[in-house]
Amino acid sequence: MRVQGTIHDLTTDMKIITQHPEARQVIKALQITDTHLFADSQGSLLGLNTEQSLQAVISQIRAHRRATDLILATGDLVHDGTRAAYQRIFSHLGNFDQPVYCLAGNHDEARTLQNTLREGRIKYVEHAYHGSWHFIFLDSTVAHSEGAHLTKATLNALETYLQEAPDTNTLICLHHQPIAMGSHWLDTMAVDNPEAFFGITDRHPQIRGILWGHVHQQFDGMRNDVRLMSTPSTCIQFLPKSRNFALDSATPGYRWLDLHPDGHIETAVERIAAVTGKVDMASNGY
Ligand SMILES: [Fe+2]
Repeated sequence: MRVQGTIHDLTTDMKIITQHPEARQVIKALQITDTHLFADSQGSLLGLNTEQSLQAVISQIRAHRRATDLILATGDLVHDGTRAAYQRIFSHLGNFDQPVYCLAGNHDEARTLQNTLREGRIKYVEHAYHGSWHFIFLDSTVAHSEGAHLTKATLNALETYLQEAPDTNTLICLHHQPIAMGSHWLDTMAVDNPEAFFGITDRHPQIRGILWGHVHQQFDGMRNDVRLMSTPSTCIQFLPKSRNFALDSATPGYRWLDLHPDGHIETAVERIAAVTGKVDMASNGY
């Protein structure tokens, strides 16, 4: 995959996370991703009960008592695509007092996701404004495929939304990674037309960050002046830089983001201490 621009990996260099004085106008977001719930509450991925794992992550979020304005649920909300699984995930997400913006991932059924939504705080939209920030949600899924593509219509919508608010700090969210993660098996499922995507984003300096799920691992980087971020799943973790499928012993987690009025992004990943049950670490797929 060829992507213009140099990408700096900041994952192990979190020193750029600093306190910022303009705390009052900061938009505070949480990212919860790749929850992979099943219709059955006993459903598990490689030995890990995904609903219990999600509940542990949510308990940690509540324990930390972070002020929150919105939640970003960046796909693979369910694993089996069933209406019952969506009802389960929405019952968890609906317990938050803030709007929850959902994206579909490669394990989702977008139509079922949409049909299961009721009026309320859980939303499936293309973009939204909060304070001095603009959030754009891109559908990167391809029907009946695990791969990723941004269609002409999606890219046109991106361009339109960016032109609509050229002076508003913007965070772009999608499910799949738009850059190579250095993990061969995962990168076969990366966005397959990143040149078209970055060809647009490079013309819009109000974009401050690009955020994704799918890769079940943390990544923090910079491309030009844009922050790039991926976030651990709330269930199983994939081993970074692994050529073939491999699990990581890192625990599930979530990401918080403080989005400042000047465009500065303060962010970190938080993980739970341990998982319940025995994960099949030797598995070569799921
Ligand atoms: Fe996933």
